[in-house]
Amino acid sequence: MRQKIVAGNWKMNTTPAEGEALAKAVVAASSEVKDVTLILGVPFTHLCPVSKAIAGSQVKLAAQDCSAHDKGAYTGEVAASMIAPFGAQYVILGHSERREYHGENSAVLNEKMKQAYANGLAPIYCVGEKLEERESGKHFDVVTKQIEEVVFNLSDDQFDKLVVAYEPVWAIGTGKTATADQAQEIHAHIRKVLASKFGAKAENTPILYGGSCKPSNAAEIFSKADVDGGLIGGAALKAEDFIAIAKAF
Ligand code: PGA
Repeated sequence: MRQKIVAGNWKMNTTPAEGEALAKAVVAASSEVKDVTLILGVPFTHLCPVSKAIAGSQVKLAAQDCSAHDKGAYTGEVAASMIAPFGAQYVILGHSERREYHGENSAVLNEKMKQAYANGLAPIYCVGEKLEERESGKHFDVVTKQIEEVVFNLSDDQFDKLVVAYEPVWAIGTGKTATADQAQEIHAHIRKVLASKFGAKAENTPILYGGSCKPSNAAEIFSKADVDGGLIGGAALKAEDFIAIAKAF
């Protein structure tokens, strides 16, 4: 059985105190969630308070990015080695907002993946097409390329720890969701691409859906064979909604 995951991506939201309160509320309700790994993807400034808030619970911690470098003169950057000591086990890499606003490409993401693995962080690697790419029928090619150029460089051992998130850019924060059938179709394609390189191991890779996932649509999307959970933005900012999504399996 593949691991089921519901990961929150808080993006640049909440003050540290609000984030701590949100994490505590998630922990308080997390006993209602069985057999699903809950992850909170928090701003760097929140790693410390949130790590304390979730200590001893089943909730796990992620950063939303890490530097492509290990240390040095990179003002404003945060290294994977600075994230891991807070007990973080995951790092979101290649989110479309980073690709779009920070020009992250496969070359940079390959370096970030190396840093993540070198410091014991499992990447939640995001792929997904833009609206015009979907409308022109290029979505399969776009995600194939995003996987081939980065994931195909992983060793077998590294691949075992990878989580993939499919996030169609047109569905992120727009209230528009891919239909469950659209999600299944592309998740199955992603798994096939992964299998072309890593063989049967791809059966174990959690592939999460992201893009306006909420309590009202999660059950249908999660019911699909190749959808193993969600990467949740807006709805992760309310503990009640985040937990309701995790209970939607
Ligand atoms: P959203 O964001 O749930 O607010 O659409 C998802 C994401 O970008 O990870």
